[in-house]
Amino acid sequence: MNTQEATSRCERGGKNGKALAPAGGFRIEKSALPRNLRRIVDTDSILNALRQVKYPGFSRDIVSFGLVKKTEVRGEAAVVALAVAASAPEVPERIRAEVEAALLAAGFARAEVSVAVSAPPPPPNAPAAAVAAPKPEPVAGVRRVIAIASGKGGVGKSTFSVNIACALAQLRGPDGEPLRVGLLDCDIHGPSIPLMMGLSGQPEIAGEMFTPPQNHGVKVMSLGFFIDEDSPVIWRGPMIMKIIRQFATQVAWGGLDVLVVDLPPGTGDAPLSLAQTVALDGAVIVTTPQAAAASVARRGAAMFPRMEIPLLGVAENMSWLAMPDGGRQEIFGGGGGKAAAEALGTEFLGQVPLDPNIREGGDAGAPVVVTQPASESGAAFITIASRILEKILASA
Ligand SMILES: Nc1ncnc2c1ncn2[C@@H]1O[C@H](COP(=O)(O)OP(=O)(O)O)[C@@H](O)[C@H]1O
Ligand SMILES: [Mg+2]
Repeated sequence: MNTQEATSRCERGGKNGKALAPAGGFRIEKSALPRNLRRIVDTDSILNALRQVKYPGFSRDIVSFGLVKKTEVRGEAAVVALAVAASAPEVPERIRAEVEAALLAAGFARAEVSVAVSAPPPPPNAPAAAVAAPKPEPVAGVRRVIAIASGKGGVGKSTFSVNIACALAQLRGPDGEPLRVGLLDCDIHGPSIPLMMGLSGQPEIAGEMFTPPQNHGVKVMSLGFFIDEDSPVIWRGPMIMKIIRQFATQVAWGGLDVLVVDLPPGTGDAPLSLAQTVALDGAVIVTTPQAAAASVARRGAAMFPRMEIPLLGVAENMSWLAMPDGGRQEIFGGGGGKAAAEALGTEFLGQVPLDPNIREGGDAGAPVVVTQPASESGAAFITIASRILEKILASA
């Protein structure tokens, strides 16, 4: 087992143990309620109390994060089971203390809180046996999962995901075999990967499993295959979780060395859900060079170390436009990517210029690393992909 579970009991001082005090302050005498209703009110007030507890470092509560596995009333006690995946050691303890306090404050005489803690990822040079230990929710058959993230939309995150995935598919692993690469489009608000990869139509389904369509040597899964391009997509939190979980568990990747995940921009529900659902081995941050974009990227990226997901580095997109005279025009200013990497204490992976061929390649479903690998921008993507590969192999 890679989880350890500890239960603590906590008693409330004072004499009002029998009264329930739901959020809002009024009190219901439990004995005034029919027996079957009591249970519902009690478990509801447990959940209400738990909703007051935020995941450390986030504005979201532990209930909406899906950490609560069981709530039960036993006599005067609130019994709660939590599961926390891959967190810093102080996180489960802090959550437990806050949960106990919230339950006692809600009027329960006692709180019995058990926290199942999944083993954190092994340190980079841990012995092989430790590395082989299962991660919280690994994607079946996939050796490494890397997320491509950004602070905001429109910086070229999907373009990066596509070109990095296609570049990786041209590279070879340490065994000399070509890398087997997948690309998972988790940008559920604007899934653009099918278009950029030149794929359309619905994936086939065999039993419970979707077969990922393939192009340019990369297997692809995207919500874009399933939705109508013209209808707006509005997804609520639980639905997002469900889709992402399905993508993590019901795609027959058939053995991959690397799965590249195109995250939605920012730190909203979807990127957080993904980071909670899928065991990510690292994240690459994409930004444009201007200071404002880079500072948004920096803030967005801060969520990864907090969730124990290593930052692989920062890549800068749209760094300059090549002029006919051979000069470079820095349309979006300069230095943002490097500054963001320094502020995050991670590597600056490189720069990709503004290149009409990149945009055209995206729209035509023929990424520039496939059609023009030797061009300045094609070569830039391949260099960045090689560096990412080196880093994920080094942390194996
Ligand atoms: N380096 C680049 N040069 C030219 N066009 C680019 C470059 N990077 C991205 N684009 C274009 O900019 C638009 C936004 O890029 P996209 O990858 O969809 O951004 P995001 O996923 O961050 O929202 C797309 O039309 C894409 O083709
Ligand atoms: Mg995108």
